[in-house]
Amino acid sequence: MADDRIPKGLLITIDGPAGAGKSTVSKKLADILGYAYLDTGALYRALALSAQKNNLNPDKEEDLEKLCRKPAIDLTYNGGKLTVILAGEDVSEEIRTPEVSMLSSYISAKPMVRKSLLEMQRDIGKKGSVVAEGRDMGTVVFPDADVKFYLDASPEERASRRYKELLQKGNNLNYEQIRKEMLKRDADDSSRAVAPLIPAPDAIFVDSTDKSIDEVIAFMLAKIQEKAALKACLRAARKQV
Ligand code: DC
Repeated sequence: MADDRIPKGLLITIDGPAGAGKSTVSKKLADILGYAYLDTGALYRALALSAQKNNLNPDKEEDLEKLCRKPAIDLTYNGGKLTVILAGEDVSEEIRTPEVSMLSSYISAKPMVRKSLLEMQRDIGKKGSVVAEGRDMGTVVFPDADVKFYLDASPEERASRRYKELLQKGNNLNYEQIRKEMLKRDADDSSRAVAPLIPAPDAIFVDSTDKSIDEVIAFMLAKIQEKAALKACLRAARKQV
């Protein structure tokens, strides 16, 4: 059942590092609000997988151009499940491997890659009623979003969540390797020259370290309600002037 205390039409952004809980929280919020869910990490992952499958070297200008020419990626979110289609093939699981994680982070530092995905993201966002998650949602892609969150957790907590998630999927990996790769990815994502992972100045900071998903969701819903009410007041006041 959608929460009708919050109006339709808002654009809500959630940025943050790997393992902070963005996907879980974004999907839940989208379900509660009856909004669409936009996982922008899945777009970068699909492009990374495309480079892998087509043997394209992202450091070669010619290959990079090929990779970025009209990316054939389609996202659908239904019943709590995100389906990612790349060139007609369902790659929803394939894009979640540790190799694709690292490669998606690597290619995401390339301005051509970011440019090739920008329009697609904005087209989805401008329809409103969207929860969009990523690294640069509130800073670059949707600077005018209605409500912005920056979701974080301690590095240990994030690594342990990612480790459990991969174990559940049957990956046989060691915790230390996961932790190292995750920290490298975060450092790279935060230090790149274009659209680095940084909180937007007007983002609401949420630390999910010692909180349950329900606690995080309750906090975020309260903040969204607050912002929506404030916007409605401002609109009403403007009408009276
Ligand atoms: O959210 P994720 O772990 O699925 O994202 C994979 C990589 O994609 C991440 O390490 C950096 C990149 N990314 C990005 O640069 N900008 C976004 N808005 C989303 C993801």
